[in-house]
Amino acid sequence: MRLVLVGPPGAGKGTQAEFIAAHLSVPKISTGDIFRSNVTQGTPLGVEAKRYMDAGELVPDEVTINMVRDRLAEPDASEGFLLDGFPRTTPQAAALDKLLADLGTALDLVLELVVDDDEVIRRLSGRRTCRGCGKIWHVEFDATTRPDVCDRCGAELFQRDDDKPETIATRLREYGEKTAPLVDYYGAQGKLVGIDATGPVEDVTTRAIDALRSYG
Ligand code: AP5
Ligand code: ZN
Repeated sequence: MRLVLVGPPGAGKGTQAEFIAAHLSVPKISTGDIFRSNVTQGTPLGVEAKRYMDAGELVPDEVTINMVRDRLAEPDASEGFLLDGFPRTTPQAAALDKLLADLGTALDLVLELVVDDDEVIRRLSGRRTCRGCGKIWHVEFDATTRPDVCDRCGAELFQRDDDKPETIATRLREYGEKTAPLVDYYGAQGKLVGIDATGPVEDVTTRAIDALRSYG
């Protein structure tokens, strides 16, 4: 299955992507994770992306599209994938459609995680991420036994640089201006399914998997 997860920053895309990708046995491809790993390694791509990420702005389309094209060419993505955080602009969506059409295939479904701005701010301001295994935690909603230590692998947790209040505000603005139009784009293709992303993580996963079942 070829699937896209769309939703505002902090909607729970990364959290849900892990479960949904495992359920479908497809790779989870997160552009945010790929950029962050390039930033950590200090690659030229990471140096360029960091400027935008720290400001809460989107990395330019051309850079992002080329990166995704390379990732989708890897063998593990040939039978299906779950994209988390891409596409995020109409040009990115059009580029993805073209890329898949050239391969003789197409997206199956786009899942939109629906959650309001107040909840997004609560989720992002308490998010902690594991430096070792990448698991996403929350100080209140999904707390570890010891603060700043991952229960799964024992590595240290960190707070993302772009989870500062002023950067969150810019990310929400970018989402409204540049990404929200994708709801109409995929709606017009008949591929969009909206999911209520509030409530416990497991409930959201169940809603997502039920939606896949009814459309798959
Ligand atoms: P990216 O990493 O994609 O960030 P984002 O879209 O802002 O999304 P987040 O990762 O912040 O949130 P999420 O929805 O994954 O939520 P999570 O599961 O962590 O992008 C970062 C930057 O990279 C961008 O700003 C941009 O600069 C660049 N970039 C990336 N892709 C790009 C693209 N295509 N084009 C251009 N630039 C791009 O959950 C959040 C918190 O809530 C966690 O603490 C979690 O534990 C908690 N939580 C989750 N679900 C629940 C629940 N049901 N109840 C309570 N708490 C919950
Ligand atoms: Zn860990």
